[in-house]
Amino acid sequence: MGGPAGRPSDQGLSRRSFLKGAGGAAAASGVLAADAASQEAATAEGAATLSGTTEVELTVNGQARKVSVEPRTTLLSALRDRMDPALTGAKLVCDMGSCGACTVIIDGQPVYGCMTLAARCQGKAITTVEGFGSPDKMSDVQDAFCEKDGLMCGFCTPGFVVATHAALDRKPNADIDELKYELSGNLCRCGTYPHIFEAAKAVQMSRAAGTGEAQEGAGR
Ligand code: FES
Ligand code: FES
Repeated sequence: MGGPAGRPSDQGLSRRSFLKGAGGAAAASGVLAADAASQEAATAEGAATLSGTTEVELTVNGQARKVSVEPRTTLLSALRDRMDPALTGAKLVCDMGSCGACTVIIDGQPVYGCMTLAARCQGKAITTVEGFGSPDKMSDVQDAFCEKDGLMCGFCTPGFVVATHAALDRKPNADIDELKYELSGNLCRCGTYPHIFEAAKAVQMSRAAGTGEAQEGAGR
């Protein structure tokens, strides 16, 4: 994938590389065991760790959330399928790190939730689209997407909203080419790109004017 930081090359491990790493760690501990019995025990423990569930605490939208996960459980699955109440804003679309519908922010960086292991997110600040605003109190980016018709079917929209927040935080004065680059990790099959970029520009204008809301040209 292209430039947006943290998705996925410079942030999370793939599930495959994680499991290979975990298996390697288990094997290493077996080699270092003092005798055959402890070696077997270490191997058995490693196998149990790989196949069982464990409870982790994730900090999501400023709240501590306990959730049972397997080593292979993705952050997206933890959010959508294993939390109660569930956080379903991040969408499962491609499940292979190519569309960006599952984008969340971890420690300030946009990442693909479907390519990030939940167990590796402990101690990190996770922000989902729900963390930016609600239908009753939308963020300026969410508001601008509505005002500029930056959505059709809406499946890509939560990911774009999160990625736009991240892009504008990182580059408040990004020009259109920079915005395109920052959002290049997100795909919209409905082709709403012009409206999405209009929304981003409207937010830039309103923030520059200090209103905090989409203003001029936002269609109000
Ligand atoms: S669902 Fe994660 S990148 Fe498409
Ligand atoms: S609005 Fe349908 S995929 Fe973007």
